[in-house]
Amino acid sequence: MTAAARANALRSQIRHHEERYYVHDGPDISDADFDALMHELRAIEREYPELADPDSPTQRVGGRPAEGFTSVEHLEPMLSLDNAYSAEDLREFHGRLCRALDLPEDTALPYVAELKIDGLSIALTYEQGRLRRGVTRGDGVRGEDVTSNVRVIRSIPLALSVGGKDGPPRSQPALMEIRGEIYFPRPDFARVNEAREALGEPAFANPRNAAAGTIRTLDPAAVSRRGLRVFVYQTVVVPGAAPVAATHEDVLQTLRAWGLPVERHWERCNGIESVTRFCDRWRDARHALAFETDGVVIKLNDIAMRTRLGATAKFPRWATAFKFPAEQAQTRLLQISVNVGRTGAVTPFAVLAPVRLGGTTVQLATLHNAEEVARRDIREGDLVTVEKGGDIIPKVVGPVVGTRPTPTPAAWQMPTRCPSCATPLVRPVGEVVWRCENASCPARLRRGLQHFASRRAMNIEGLGEALVDQLISANLVTSFADLYRLTAEQLAGLERMGQKSTANLIEEIDKSRRADVWRVLHGLGIRHVGEGAARALARTFGSVAVLRTATVEQLESVGDIGPTVAQSVKAFFATPGNADMIDAMAYFGVQMADAHADNTAMPKPWAGWTFVLTGTLASRTREQAAESIERLGGKVSASVSKKTRYVVAGEDAGSKLEKARTLGVPVLSEAEFETLIMQASDF
Ligand code: IVH
Repeated sequence: MTAAARANALRSQIRHHEERYYVHDGPDISDADFDALMHELRAIEREYPELADPDSPTQRVGGRPAEGFTSVEHLEPMLSLDNAYSAEDLREFHGRLCRALDLPEDTALPYVAELKIDGLSIALTYEQGRLRRGVTRGDGVRGEDVTSNVRVIRSIPLALSVGGKDGPPRSQPALMEIRGEIYFPRPDFARVNEAREALGEPAFANPRNAAAGTIRTLDPAAVSRRGLRVFVYQTVVVPGAAPVAATHEDVLQTLRAWGLPVERHWERCNGIESVTRFCDRWRDARHALAFETDGVVIKLNDIAMRTRLGATAKFPRWATAFKFPAEQAQTRLLQISVNVGRTGAVTPFAVLAPVRLGGTTVQLATLHNAEEVARRDIREGDLVTVEKGGDIIPKVVGPVVGTRPTPTPAAWQMPTRCPSCATPLVRPVGEVVWRCENASCPARLRRGLQHFASRRAMNIEGLGEALVDQLISANLVTSFADLYRLTAEQLAGLERMGQKSTANLIEEIDKSRRADVWRVLHGLGIRHVGEGAARALARTFGSVAVLRTATVEQLESVGDIGPTVAQSVKAFFATPGNADMIDAMAYFGVQMADAHADNTAMPKPWAGWTFVLTGTLASRTREQAAESIERLGGKVSASVSKKTRYVVAGEDAGSKLEKARTLGVPVLSEAEFETLIMQASDF
């Protein structure tokens, strides 16, 4: 078999398996076997660059980080949906349709009821069956072109199937927009939020925000890791072209036959009462789904009837969204407490008399911030309404009117000092959240120490949650610095600390004294400084002493560091408690400067590899790319030879790319290069 034939065979096998997995929920090979197919295809494409195909499954992460998104007009406006909140509202909707269609109101109109996916709407343009563009809803008329991010969502086919597997082949309009919803499966949503919390970033309140935030990320490789998916539900053709099918159910079946994922619980309902039963059934059943749904979309099945009905400026007349009511319960608000997070955010929350809500028992609920408590006049002792809507954390809606106990409880006051360390709380200009800026604050310390010791920071094995709690309550540790003066005797006095575990921990702590500076910076838990920013700061400034003296302008001049991070770093070092703690850490032997590169314990996964850079990279300057290569042990050379390990080709790559192809040197796209760096950094 020729390489070209093998590549084609692999591409269609891979597409087949993607379709099995994403459209039919029934993979018929293991992940490892699937990866092996991708691996083989990549190898062939590397060896025979002339076989490159932009729609090959290997090209998903082909897009380069964008500078921003351009605005694009939709084939026809992306309208919103009118809402219905009750069976009564649904009957009214039905009545309107019957009147507009000149039919008696007891006509059993043909409807299709679909689950309403809680995500972000997207319009996918397919030209000659190939994915050309993905555009967000935007203002309905124009949206943002997020094609590079859409291409990495593996449930979206880069090329449509012709159908014909389970029925007749279905012809495809030469140009069409396919519309649907991008969403997070629950487990991926949970994973993304855990990662954000670990970085001290606010968790996404719901999957919709998370999907919207992700699709607007400028780096497709980062989007690819998040695990977004899509469900489609609509086709739009150019004005004058024949519709894809005469009924909506046929549209859904056609979409599926083309290899697109359609949410499979839709039902054909004859008459509005049947629709109401569908809504009733899914009110509770939805909790068992692998994705979030906030309602049911009811659509007229007959496309010709739809055309007769048309649309208002905002909504189509032929569809409506039934919204599930937010689940509510009433209970006593026992106490308003405040929580101190790792990064010092001090936020009020409600301690409630336990109450059943949305399938779980709720005892705590968010009160958002001090302003909200005052605005809703929520007081301790009140009977309150608690609600679980689309967000993961239940919230207190407000006091139940007319039930306030006597004597009237006093209005709640936000503490002026941190409840844990008494440092005066500050509220940065323009923010609603109060903060404790003291890095040694015991409440922050507990969360902070767990993060400090974690694998992606100082990597102190054995210093887990239980031990952190013991160290704090025994008053042995009041700041990160105290870890470095713990003695074996002190540790041996703690629960479950035998001789061996004590010795191991002492050794682990000692080892962390020589951790790279980026680990120290990440471990300190400076707000907005995740691992990436910590690495960038360490690379640029080399030591904590130099970083401490950096001005905001100097900080901002570092690639990857924006004004928010720069301000936050400056504020961190300006807080006296923090500066003292860093001095103490240095005094106890924590290395605060990176030793000469060759002496560091940093692994060098690219040792002996030579890279050649050609063309312009979108996400780094050449110097930055060279720095990353050298940091990982590789070398950069100006010319391509047989010994070159990789040529990294950016935009407008020139003769070096030609030469690489002639010599058979593997060529990396920018995205592949970024992936390689990421993998090596995890080494
Ligand atoms: S149909 C012209 N079907 O809900 C109407 N929309 O609140 C086109 N949505 O903007 C929309 N699941 O983003 C339709 N099964 C579904 C849906 C759905 C979620 C979203 C969509 C729309 C919003 C309206």
